Amino acid sequence: MFKSQGIGKCYNDKGEKPTKGKFNRFDHLTLWVGNAKQAASFYCTRMGFEPVAYRGLETGSRKVAAHVVRQNQIVLVLMSAYEPYNEEMGDHLVKHGDGVKDVAFNVDDLEHIVSRAKERGAKLVRDVWEEKDENGSVRFAVIQTYGDTTHTFVERGNYQGVFLPGYSKAIYEDPLLPKLPVANISFIDHVVGNQPDLEMEDVAKWYETTLMFHRFWSVDDSQIHTEFSALRSIVMANWDETIKMPINEPAPGKKKSQIQEYVDYYGGAGVQHVALNSSDIIAAVKALKERGTQFLQVPKSYYVKLRESLQDSKVKISEDLDTLEALDILIDYDDNGYLLQIFTKPVQDRPTLFFEVIQRHNHNGFGAGNFKALFEAFEGEQDKRGNLN
Ligand SMILES: [Fe+2]
Repeated sequence: MFKSQGIGKCYNDKGEKPTKGKFNRFDHLTLWVGNAKQAASFYCTRMGFEPVAYRGLETGSRKVAAHVVRQNQIVLVLMSAYEPYNEEMGDHLVKHGDGVKDVAFNVDDLEHIVSRAKERGAKLVRDVWEEKDENGSVRFAVIQTYGDTTHTFVERGNYQGVFLPGYSKAIYEDPLLPKLPVANISFIDHVVGNQPDLEMEDVAKWYETTLMFHRFWSVDDSQIHTEFSALRSIVMANWDETIKMPINEPAPGKKKSQIQEYVDYYGGAGVQHVALNSSDIIAAVKALKERGTQFLQVPKSYYVKLRESLQDSKVKISEDLDTLEALDILIDYDDNGYLLQIFTKPVQDRPTLFFEVIQRHNHNGFGAGNFKALFEAFEGEQDKRGNLN
């Protein structure tokens, strides 16, 4: 058996770094939505993505329409069913509403990753297959993770096409997009999965056992709580720490945790938020606000406390604090560095999926110092929805 060394890397049977089966990065996220065409337009106009690829009736895809949008290395695939009574996608939509169905990883040595995962009890949704077109071939496999969410492993080799085999270039251009301010967000920093109460630990173990991810960071409810509610979180990462998957669960409090609110509305475990990494969060957030992206507002008291505590800190924030405050950007720091982060409101009617924009300055945390302020902001919204009780 492999060795898991607590908060540390997972080694192979001989106590070495695994030499086979490499996870490189997030490849893309697939969202199953009620209307992929309109959802793609939302992500482009509001959040700064551009249409890049498409498959649908015009390209010979008879059952599913897929619109692919991209912003630098961030790729989202919006998917909807064409036909009445598409049971799998229909049931998913009724149960979960719009949401992230699949988190795809770009990998090397797909066979090894799949056989290792199978050996260790992973549920295979679809075994290894290959697709090809004139631009090359790509190999895939799909396994089940938490809730109805899946992971697709994608081995691209030297595939040269616009996205994946079967996709054409996007079939429309949006004349509005060139007129909008550029957000220029770079890559997916982390993807967070919410679990029902007391399921976090098993899910974290699943990532250790089947994917050989390791525990990168964790917090418990003694660290993250408000007067009313609390959460626990364990961040799982691949060997190279290029893929980070925080796993949350609610913890008991006086009132309903926002994690529990998510689980209630999503109908179980699922992706809560996707954090997008920017090297210039001020420019990114200004652009997104001009585009009409709605962010959570931060209580003024947060910045009063922050200014006080920064006076005693070794860390120097190079951005202007007034600008950060005006934009509702949060700061978390230690002696060696800091991060800037901001959270959108849910991007659909159900209070489920939302996005984060994050900029890191020598800081690998996830904003634990902000969770309290953030929870209070969340709870303000939750209360407006009648779900803080
Ligand atoms: Fe996050």
